[in-house]
Amino acid sequence: MDAVIRRALPAEARALTRIAHAAKRHWKYPEAWIRLWRDALSLTPQFVERHPVYCAVAGASVLGFYALSGAGATRELEHFWVAPRDMGHGVGARMFAHAVATLRADGARVLRIASDPYAKGFYLRPGARRVGKWPSTPRGRTLPLLVLGVGPPRGRGI
Ligand SMILES: CC(C)(COP(=O)(O)OP(=O)(O)OC[C@H]1O[C@@H](n2cnc3c(N)ncnc32)[C@H](O)[C@@H]1OP(=O)(O)O)[C@@H](O)C(=O)NCCC(=O)NCCS
Repeated sequence: MDAVIRRALPAEARALTRIAHAAKRHWKYPEAWIRLWRDALSLTPQFVERHPVYCAVAGASVLGFYALSGAGATRELEHFWVAPRDMGHGVGARMFAHAVATLRADGARVLRIASDPYAKGFYLRPGARRVGKWPSTPRGRTLPLLVLGVGPPRGRGI
């Protein structure tokens, strides 16, 4: 995949929102649930301006994006979506490696991920581990809460 990963622009908030909705629909959730999650799946230009939001692009086409939040040692993965037509070609893996490098360069140690249940395996592969559950909607639904260490590899002290 001939893609580059770059910082997203505030003007792209609407296009990123469309990708988030399309990716979530990929799991065939009821439309009533998608409506329930509308705010959580939407980005504003202000959000893009104020957070690290990065997108994978090939030419004029946006293939996917991710967003981080928080400060200090522990950060959150706010968004992580690949457009359905581009899934299964390594875009997610490249974006995730980029997110880890971004966090490390910014001094973060731990990334927390309230994962979609169907995406959990994607995060477990590069080393995330399950530490609990995260409340979701509709009421009673929970998401697997995962953590991944993103600090510099431990040296041998010699
Ligand atoms: C989950 C998602 C981000 C993966 O992105 P992708 O570009 O399709 O994944 P990749 O092609 O980079 O796959 C990388 C590896 O993860 C594996 N993988 C991908 N999706 C997986 C999943 N849902 N469960 C388990 N493993 C998965 C692939 O098989 C591949 O393994 P390999 O290295 O052995 O070949 C993407 O499918 C998506 O956006 N899904 C819908 C929205 C969603 O749930 N997002 C996550 C919100 S927390």
